[in-house]
Amino acid sequence: MWIKLKTRILKVDASNPEISKLEYAAKVIRNGGLVVFPTETVYGLGADALEPKAANSIFIAKGRPSDNPLIVHIAEQRTSPARYGENSMLYTVVKSCNQKAINLMNSFWPGPLTIVFKKSDLISDTVTAGLDTVAVRMPSHPVASMLIELSGVPVAAPSANISGRPSSTRIEHVIEDLYGRVDVIIDSGNSTIGLESTVIDVSSEPCTVLRPGGITIEQIKKIIPEVEYRSDIYEFEKSDDVPKAPGMKYTHYSPDAEVFVIEGEVHKIVQKIKQLCNDDRFKNKKIGILATKQTANMYEQGTVITAGDRHNPETIAMNLFDILRSFDSENIEVVFAEGIEETGIGTAVMNRMRKAAGRNNIIKV
Ligand code: TXA
Ligand code: MG
Repeated sequence: MWIKLKTRILKVDASNPEISKLEYAAKVIRNGGLVVFPTETVYGLGADALEPKAANSIFIAKGRPSDNPLIVHIAEQRTSPARYGENSMLYTVVKSCNQKAINLMNSFWPGPLTIVFKKSDLISDTVTAGLDTVAVRMPSHPVASMLIELSGVPVAAPSANISGRPSSTRIEHVIEDLYGRVDVIIDSGNSTIGLESTVIDVSSEPCTVLRPGGITIEQIKKIIPEVEYRSDIYEFEKSDDVPKAPGMKYTHYSPDAEVFVIEGEVHKIVQKIKQLCNDDRFKNKKIGILATKQTANMYEQGTVITAGDRHNPETIAMNLFDILRSFDSENIEVVFAEGIEETGIGTAVMNRMRKAAGRNNIIKV
C-alpha cells in the first residue's frame, strides 16, 4: 500500500531547463525519492536504478505488478568522449553490448528506442523483475537528459500512470494519477511523440521488436533488415510461452469505458461503427467514437472525437492517450475506435488501440 507523500510540482521550461530546479529533483532521486519527469515519448516515474528500495517504491506508487520490469534511463555524458565506452553510464547497467546494439544506438540514441541487454551485477532483480536482461533507453528530451546527468545515476522509470491506465502525455494526467504518491512532479508541458518508445531485444536471436513505438519498424529495418515483429499481440496467449516482453500480458491503456477497435477499409469502418451505434447491445449506452479528420463528420450519433489525420499518424499518436482518458471524464460507456494503416508510427498506434480494446473487442470488416 502506498503512503501519502507531499508532492512538489516544479514547472521547468522544456526548451531552456532551469538548472536549479533540476538540481533539486536530482537530489531527490539520489536520496531514494520518486520524481516524475518529461520525456519525448510520455512522462516517466523515476527513481535511482541502482537502489532496489527506490526502484521498489516505483512499483508501489504505480500499483504495478512486480513481475513487469522497468526501463533504465541513461544520459549522454557530455563530459566523457567515449559515449558507450567502458566508463560510460551504459556500462554501469549492462554486461555486454553487441555490434547490432551499437549500430542501433548510433542511429537512434538519444531518442525513443529501448534496447534489451544482458544486465550488469549493479542492476537488481527488483528493476528487471528477476530477468538477466535489462531494458535501457537514452531519452532525447533535454529535461530528462539533464535530470539524469545531474542525478549521476541511471534512472529506472516506467510510464507515469497508474498501472493499466493510458500513459501520461499531459501534466493533468500525471497529477490525476500520481499526485500524493511521488515526491516531485516536473511539469514541462505535453509530450511530443505521445506513445512510448520502441522496445527491441538484440540480446538473443532473432532480433525482435517487443513493443512498437516512437522509432518505426521501417527505420529499424534499415539498420537490421532481418528484425522480427509480430503485430498479432494476442498470438502468444495461444501458447504456454512466457511473453518475451513481460508487460505484454497485462491489460493496458484501458479507460473505464469498454473499447472496440474496428479495422479494415475506411468506408467499411464507418459503416460498421454506425451499425454498432444502433445495435441493441449499445444503443442505450453513452457512446464515444474515436474518429479521424477524414471521417469525423460522417457520424450522426455518439460523442465524436477527432484523433488526427489518418494520412499523418504522428498526429494520432500524439493525441491517442489523452482522448482515451477524456472519454472517461465524459462518462462514456462504450468507445468505437477507428483503425488506421499499420505503417510508420501507425503500427504503434494500432498496437495500443488493440491493447486498449482487448482480444475479444477487435472487429475486422
Ligand atoms: O517511452 C518509454 O519507454 C517510457 C518512458 C518513460 O521512457 N517508458 C515506458 O515504460 O513505457 P513502461 O514500464 O511503461 O514499459 C516498459 C516495457 C514493458 O512492456 C516491459 O515489460 C518492457 O518494457 N521491458 C522492461 N524490461 C524488459 C526486459 N528486460 N526484457 C523485455 N522487456 C522489458
Ligand atoms: Mg507503461
